[in-house]
Amino acid sequence: MKPPNHQTISFFLIFNFLLSSFPHLQATAAAGGDGATTIAFATLGRSSYAFDIYAIPTNRPSKEIRLTDGKSVNFNGFFPSPSSLSVLPQLPNRPDPTTHILYITERNGSSKIYLDALYDTPPLTSGSRSMLEFPTESTNRLQVNLLGDEQTGGRVSMKDKPSLVGQSLIYVSTHENPGQPRASWAAIYSTQLTTGSTRRLTPKGVADFSPAVSLSGVWTAVASFGEKGWGGEVQELDTDIYVFLTRDGSSRVKIVEHGGWPAWADDSTLYFHRRCDDGWWSVFRASFSTKDGQLGVESVVTRRLTPPGLHAFTPAASSSNKSFIAVATRRPESEFRHIELYDVVSKKFIDVTRPVSPNAHHLNPFISPDSGWVGYHKCRGASNDGKDNNDLVLENVRSPLPNVSLFRVDGSFPSYSPDGERVAYVKFPGLFVMNNDGSGVRNVLTRTAFSTAWDWKRKGVVYTSVGPTFASESTKVDIISINVDDEDLSYKQLTLGGENNAFPSPSPDGKWVVFRSGRTGHKNLYIMDALNGETGRLHRLTEGPWTDTMCNWSPDGEWIAFASDRENPGSGSFELFKIHPNGTGLQKVIQSGLGGRTNHPWFSPDGKYIVLTSDYAGVSAEPISNPHHYQPYGDIFVIKSDGTGIQRLTHNSYEDGTPAWSSKYTRPTNVEWPSGRSKCSFDDCHWLNISPNKVSSSSNKKRQCAH
Ligand SMILES: *[C@@H]1O[C@H](CO)[C@@H](O)[C@H](O)[C@H]1NC(C)=O
Ligand SMILES: *[C@@H]1O[C@H](CO)[C@@H](O)[C@H](O)[C@H]1NC(C)=O
Ligand SMILES: *[C@@H]1O[C@H](CO)[C@@H](O)[C@H](O)[C@H]1NC(C)=O
Ligand SMILES: *[C@@H]1O[C@H](CO)[C@@H](O)[C@H](O)[C@H]1NC(C)=O
Repeated sequence: MKPPNHQTISFFLIFNFLLSSFPHLQATAAAGGDGATTIAFATLGRSSYAFDIYAIPTNRPSKEIRLTDGKSVNFNGFFPSPSSLSVLPQLPNRPDPTTHILYITERNGSSKIYLDALYDTPPLTSGSRSMLEFPTESTNRLQVNLLGDEQTGGRVSMKDKPSLVGQSLIYVSTHENPGQPRASWAAIYSTQLTTGSTRRLTPKGVADFSPAVSLSGVWTAVASFGEKGWGGEVQELDTDIYVFLTRDGSSRVKIVEHGGWPAWADDSTLYFHRRCDDGWWSVFRASFSTKDGQLGVESVVTRRLTPPGLHAFTPAASSSNKSFIAVATRRPESEFRHIELYDVVSKKFIDVTRPVSPNAHHLNPFISPDSGWVGYHKCRGASNDGKDNNDLVLENVRSPLPNVSLFRVDGSFPSYSPDGERVAYVKFPGLFVMNNDGSGVRNVLTRTAFSTAWDWKRKGVVYTSVGPTFASESTKVDIISINVDDEDLSYKQLTLGGENNAFPSPSPDGKWVVFRSGRTGHKNLYIMDALNGETGRLHRLTEGPWTDTMCNWSPDGEWIAFASDRENPGSGSFELFKIHPNGTGLQKVIQSGLGGRTNHPWFSPDGKYIVLTSDYAGVSAEPISNPHHYQPYGDIFVIKSDGTGIQRLTHNSYEDGTPAWSSKYTRPTNVEWPSGRSKCSFDDCHWLNISPNKVSSSSNKKRQCAH
């Protein structure tokens, strides 16, 4: 490898050098010309994920150090080896950095890969000098955005699980559309940092996750669906482990059937996780031979390492001390996910995070090259000064559409008033209204409600459904209208029977409300009088032994879009349809492959487009590497109202849903809650059951779980 030279440094000048005195993010005034609009959506639990990366010494697990800067959401870290750091510029008048940390950050609304160099100050005397011992709150941090717009062409994508090998950055990105519904866009790329040239390492039409590069840099291992694609799994993915040459993705071979999250100890030893037939997630080792640049696929020996009785997953290996690995665990006696070391010789676990922070979830460990530190991420909680808690009312999400500004709302079922000035949303258990800049939040209903919509004619009138979500046809849910400008917030009950009447959407002439109701034993669509509800007038719009739901009336009054499972009732699969309010013209708008889901349609203000949530892009990461999401696949998409021209707006591994479209453009900027109160109250994966059931062997995949 060539030593750094002036070229390297000038190359880095085109990378955004972000010193830690990062100026507060300012959106450009240029965006949002004529016809520009705004889409708001919800992400399950996301407002609690103020992650930072921390590390603890492996030999005295007592002291925890925060490595990232307490801004935004930072996760999936990696300690680069000293030899790969020659790509970094030498700063004049600076000592050598004490450590480097590579990680994913979501600052300023998109997924990025940052490399931070951390410096000691004042320089410690050699006697007391030890890696990572410095105040991370200092200004002694250099941040480099490794994939700026120059390298990505301004494309929006999710990035994940970065490694730095020589001068190449290896990572997951979702910027290429495989052109198939229900296919994951996640693939592995390699970007040469000195030239910016990027190469796809995953074959076309295949999705790869969780890449790990071997110590020599020669091999990369991934979890992959291979040719079979995503089958709709939301817990353990049906992946196998593949290995290929990091150089160009060639010599790709399946090395282990059934497994995920590979980690290399050396070029012939891989660790990975797998859910066993006894129900426990366990870490396995695969050993094989590597000769003359060939992998001995026939010689692979796999062995279960961690025993039943606890879940152990997302392994990390150390290249300098092969006697231990790091894993995340869920033990029956704890509600929290912890990082532990596992001594592969003595077969003993050693606590890492439990003594330091017993009541927090810790995710995705990684080990420093000298094996002295184990890193992981966890929620940072509230900072002392209440700043940078990432506690946002509205989070600016970078939009791939230049004339649409995109926001994540800290709540669900947002909807905009017809003038775009106000937002109604639900945060269980209550209904809230605020200005579109996040100010003036008011709780206007304290009961459990879901879905919101504003009347087009009567100012301040908001419709909602009161009762539980995801409930049966006979559950007591009724539609009400509230005048939020009314001092006493009087409301009117519009449906009476309580048979799961929900998802109200008013007609633009202000006369009608379309909604779904389970009154016949099936959820179908009905239209009622907007002022007096079903006692005023009621007619049935759709009829059949299936579910029609999530309806939205177009701004020109001509169409009602809705989600339906009518083609396969009860299957859990939903497609979008539209129908004229007089019951004619039924059309299917879009379907996300066989058995897929498209839900929550909402027309654009000009009626030409529909925004929706769908599993169209499959999953983007192994669900076990994230907090809990019921459906770890929802992304927000825009289609033309005839169903063509699908465009993906969000790229992440979270569950994004309930989008709504506003006629007004809102400047892309984050809005913080006035009083910072970071909660860290997110759930670990619900299906990490502490008394797991045996996994049925319906598939013929090998679970090989015996010791
Ligand atoms: C933040 O994002 C906005 C657009 O979403 C962009 O205009 C602005 O330049 C970004 N700021 C930084 C510091 O990257
Ligand atoms: C390797 O790790 C084990 C387990 O933490 C430890 O007991 C041993 O001393 C380490 N060996 C070296 C050479 O650091
Ligand atoms: C964005 O603007 C272009 C050009 O004005 C227009 O053709 C397109 O329909 C707009 N897209 C949306 C989603 O509004
Ligand atoms: C139903 O409504 C559509 C759209 O408004 C209209 O084109 C059509 O003529 C109507 N059909 C009947 C039978 O009224």
